[in-house]
Amino acid sequence: MELIDGKKVADHIKGEIAKEVEILLNEGKKKPHLAAILVGHDGGSETYVAHKVKACEQVGFDSTLLRFEDDITEAELLKQVDLLNLNPDIDGFIVQLPLPKHIDEQKVIEAISSDKDVDGFHPVNVGKMVIGLDAFVSATPAGIVDLLNFYKISTKGKHVVVLGRSNIVGRPMSVLLSQKGMDATVTVCHSRTENLKEITNTADIIIAAIGIPEFVTADMVKTGAVIVDVGTTRVASTETKSGWKLKGDVKFDEVAPKCSFITPVPGGVGPMTIVSLLKNTLKAGKKRVK
Ligand code: GUN
Repeated sequence: MELIDGKKVADHIKGEIAKEVEILLNEGKKKPHLAAILVGHDGGSETYVAHKVKACEQVGFDSTLLRFEDDITEAELLKQVDLLNLNPDIDGFIVQLPLPKHIDEQKVIEAISSDKDVDGFHPVNVGKMVIGLDAFVSATPAGIVDLLNFYKISTKGKHVVVLGRSNIVGRPMSVLLSQKGMDATVTVCHSRTENLKEITNTADIIIAAIGIPEFVTADMVKTGAVIVDVGTTRVASTETKSGWKLKGDVKFDEVAPKCSFITPVPGGVGPMTIVSLLKNTLKAGKKRVK
């Protein structure tokens, strides 16, 4: 079994992005600039956004964090989105999800200008990605593709089982994997799937993105399979200062000995998601910067 080191790959790609920023600056162009909107004080969202801001610093991007309280109205948030759409200094921006219940997330996503939508959540980007046109691709699926490529794990003709059908991970992941070049045979499983264990046992590669800690057990996995764990549920822990730790969707200790490759949590997919966001921001910056 080989551990897939997402942090190592992410650091390598960050180094390449930093070099590209240097080139832009040497050409007299401006740094790429990512903005993030964070509403409220959800612990997970705070951590993710802090990591994104730090990653921007590491590669030499500018970043702007706009924070709002939970009681911000939908109209006010939409106004803030529009200000970022219109701000020529901002190359791309994200609205960290989830949003408070009184705000329609889809409406906010659709308000983001598709050429600044570096999360790749806008229907224009999703649609372009589905038909194989150049688009901003959702960060986690794009990061998983980079991770598989880095470890030379071929998906050609392989049976990939994607667990989960979310708009952010499962659905775009399944589309990317079936595209020309990736050439996988993809099965998407979800909460209504029958005979799940029989299906996962035929998988050469399992992408676990259902958000249920330790859902994938050894009896669900074929010997020699590749396991990509997207889960990041916070569970209470007495082992850490913070009082919580991240748990993946895979029961790591019993599954790891059976596989050829596996991603740990943390340190697997997570760092790659942030790097994909940086890549999208660099791409947005290059398109906009003159
Ligand atoms: N919440 C969980 N993952 C993400 C992400 O990739 N982007 C945004 N905007 N919110 C998230």
